[in-house]
This record gives sequence, structure tokens and C-alpha cells, in this order.
Amino acid sequence: MPDNSLWYKDAVFYELYVRAYRDSNGNGHGDLGGVIEKLDYLQTLGVNCIWLLPTYPSPLKDDGYDIADYYNIHPDYGTLDDFKALVDAVHKRGMRIITDLVLNHTSDRHPWFQAARKNPESPYRDYYVWNDTDEKYQQARIIFLDVEESNWTWDEKAGQYYWHRFYKSQPDLNFDNPKVQEEMLSIAKFWLDLGVDGFRVDAVPYLFEREGTNCENLPETHAYMKKLRAFMEQHYPDRILLSEANGWPEDIQTYFGNGDEFHMAFHFPLMLHMYIALHKQSKSPLENIIARTPALSNNTQWCTFLRNHDELTLEMATEEDRQWMWQEYAPEPRMRQNLGIRRRLAPLLNNNRQKIELAFSLLFTLPGSPTLYYGDEIGMGDNIWLPDRNGVRTPMQWEDAPNGGFSKSNSPYAPVLDSEKYAPSRVNVTAQSDDPESLFNTIRQMIAVRSQHKAFSWGDFTWVEERNPAVAVFWRQNEAERLLILNNLSSNRESIKIKLPEENNKPQLLLGKLDYKSNKQKMVIEIEGYGYCWMKF
Ligand code: GLC
Repeated sequence: MPDNSLWYKDAVFYELYVRAYRDSNGNGHGDLGGVIEKLDYLQTLGVNCIWLLPTYPSPLKDDGYDIADYYNIHPDYGTLDDFKALVDAVHKRGMRIITDLVLNHTSDRHPWFQAARKNPESPYRDYYVWNDTDEKYQQARIIFLDVEESNWTWDEKAGQYYWHRFYKSQPDLNFDNPKVQEEMLSIAKFWLDLGVDGFRVDAVPYLFEREGTNCENLPETHAYMKKLRAFMEQHYPDRILLSEANGWPEDIQTYFGNGDEFHMAFHFPLMLHMYIALHKQSKSPLENIIARTPALSNNTQWCTFLRNHDELTLEMATEEDRQWMWQEYAPEPRMRQNLGIRRRLAPLLNNNRQKIELAFSLLFTLPGSPTLYYGDEIGMGDNIWLPDRNGVRTPMQWEDAPNGGFSKSNSPYAPVLDSEKYAPSRVNVTAQSDDPESLFNTIRQMIAVRSQHKAFSWGDFTWVEERNPAVAVFWRQNEAERLLILNNLSSNRESIKIKLPEENNKPQLLLGKLDYKSNKQKMVIEIEGYGYCWMKF
């Protein structure tokens, strides 16, 4: 049996935006007390690790990814005591919790930056990256393209330019300064001591800058992350590091090191290729990306996902794929942002219930530990008229009530969705919990079945040779069990023939619908449009 320190290999993650989740004190903002109230819900859904978006004090120019104090909780969300209470409540349920760790930059409101800009002699000056001109590191791309024109901004007080990879209100820290490196270890220690089970590490590739490079994925960054890992290994051996680094699989994989850097990394290209496959009604985009995905060592794991709190990124797509994705999935300009698409899962799939289920079936059956984005389990929509990425961060819809039951306030932090298709009167947790056929209950069942079969998390993955390109058919297997999975990417009913392992040809249906004829050597399966079927042999 896998030992417990490898818990992340079979975890199901749930990404939760505290401000949007549940307002327990009526101030219009979701809070930590609200998350505690909803732990029963999360447990019912079956997820077992919560990932909290940043909850630190912040001017919220980037929704909390601009941190003004690493050692506290934003007053809208509660206090450090509330945080401890949440961690305890999560652990009591046998669940885990990870938080965002933002290493690359602070808010410009952070006292370090304020001290740095005022006084060139301050020890904090060298916490940031300064220059007299804006001409250094010209090969580094601009990430927030829609808003920023340069990675350098002139600071009047400092009389110099400062470096920032994201908004100008997020100055980059100078990781060449050993003090910055130490500060970040202390911050990690502080939260680990409060009991968090690990970190989703934000914006990993950008920690260091070097002239003549694109300032991404530099060897120095890996060396620092290995230091952080060694520190955790020594003092907190069962906590994890999850990397947010976008790139091709062979590039992201470098963040696993030799099993001595990150435990997990988001599989951005697999996410993108699931959408391409779903729209092209063909498994070949999946075959290509999985063929390009290097094998993992025993103590590392991919983190897979369909959507998150950001735009669906097309940064690393080929130019052709990017144009195609925009055309097919973001026909209106308001749906696009930077190099991506700011829409939620359900609207991306035209609110087509079968297609949404199929997308989840892919997520739960392909290799990796899946992450759900809050609200997608009930098919929440988005609001493309809100600025930045706020349209995919609207209040969670608990019931058919004012503010969707999210808050009693008259002025919630953001309007609840009010479109005909997606308003709380149409999409909410209470109604779906009561309906055995709802999306919520289907997802819940998928998670339950997945959790009972370790072959999904630990098993090998092998494609089944099959001529029909529309159906993704594969085995997931370990010593104990062989699972056969079918995901029909086409809208049509399809028929496929599968050669069987001779000894045993009676499948047990785990999920979906199974319609087949078989003899000892082969099975002919009929599968409806966008259907899926999980079987055990
Ligand atoms: C990451 C976060 C994103 C944030 C950015 C800067 O990409 O996911 O929301 O804006 O980092 O911190």
C-alpha cells in the first residue's frame, strides 16, 4: 500500500475562492467562517484537499495575489484564529488544505516596497529589482498584455525603474538577495506551523532574472525550489509543493527535479488538449499530448484540471491552436483576455450537459490528481461583462434566494449571475443536491467511484488500439485491477471493437452506460454521443 506521505497521489482537489464562497457575517464578502460552514458540502461532494486562493491582507489589485502582509489574514475574510479553526475543522474531517504561496512578487503596498522606494540605503531596497533604464531583460515577455506595456515601471520616489512580471502594482522580489530567500522560507514555515498541508506555488517560473534569457525556468529558480523542498522534507515531510508553471510537458516536468523539487505540477497542456479534443471530436490531440508527457517517478504527480480562477490560458498553445481556440470557444471579444479565454466550463461547452459530464469523465480517468474549480460541479456560468477575470469569480450559488444564498448583504462583493440560463433560480446547490440526476450528483458519483479504485491514481495508462478516432479508449490498471475506460468525444453514437484479455471477459460496469456484445476474444460496444463508460475486468 502507498504510504501516507504520498496522499496527493490519490487526492481530489477543490479550488476555492474564499471571497466568493459563503459570507458568514453578512458583510458581502465570503469568509473563512463561511468555508467552515460548507465543509459538510465539500465532504459530500467527495473532494479531499481544498486549495484556498490567497487570503492575505492585500489591496486586491490582483485579487489577493498582491500581498501586503504575508503573516496575516485579510480582514474581510477573518483572523488568524479563524484560519486555525478552518485548518482544524478540515483535518477533523480527514481532509487536507493547501494555500497559495506567492513568492515572485509582493504588493506595492507591502512595507518592504514602501521602505525600498523611499530610501536607497534601506536594507529593503535590494529586496526588489531596480534599474536606471527600462532596457534590461528585453527578452522577457509581458504576461498581462491587455494592461501592461512593459515589465519596468518608473518610480518617482525611488528615482529608478522597478521590475514586475505582472501588474505594475506587483513589484518582483529580488531572489538574488539571500535575505529574500530567507524571508520566503520563514513565511512558508509560519503557514506550515499553522497546519497547512502544502502550497500551490504561484508564478514559479519567474523568480530570477538573467540577461540574454527570457527570464523563465532558470536553473537558479530550480535550485531555490529545491532548497524550499529540502526544508519541508526535513521539518514537514508530508506536506506538498504544487507548481503553477505553464509550458510543454517536458518543460513543466523539470519542476519535479529528481523527485526532490515539486511534488506536483499543473498539467496545463493536457487541459488545453482536452478542449481541443472535445471540439474536434477526436482523441488525437489527447494522444499527442500524452505521448509527450514524460513518465513520473513514484513520489510525483500531475495535477489535472478543466478550469481555474484565471483565463483559460493559450500562452503555450501553437499560434494555430490559439487562433482556433479563440474562434471556437471565445467568439466574442469580451470573452478573450491576454492570451486566453475568460469563461467557465459550462458556458465553454454551451451548457451541454452530456458534454460537461464527458469533460469531467476525461478529467477523472486520465492520469493525474484532478482539481475542480468551485461552482463547476453545479455547472455555474460566468459574467463576461465584469472586468479582468472577475467574471469567473462570481458568488457561489447555494440556493434560489437573494444573492444565491451566498450572503445576506445588500451589497455583495460582486453581483450574482442573473442570466436566464445560469441564475441561481436555474443553477444552485440545494436543488441539485435533492435531484439524483443532477450534475452535482453525477460528479459526486464519479468522485466516489474514482476514490474506490486506486488504478485511477496509481495505475498505468495504456491506449487501446482502436480505429474509431472519436472514442478515447484506454486501460487504467495496477496489480489489483484492470479498468477499461471509454470516452466518446463525438456527438454521434459510435461503435467500437475491443480485443479482450482472453482469461476474463465479463466486465463490471462502474459508471456510465454499457451496451455490448462479446465473445471470448472481442467486445463490440455501442456508445451514445458524448457518452462515457468506466468498466472493471
Ligand atoms: C498566477 C495566478 C493569477 C495571478 C498571477 C500573479 O498566475 O493564478 O491569478 O494574477 O499569478 O500573481
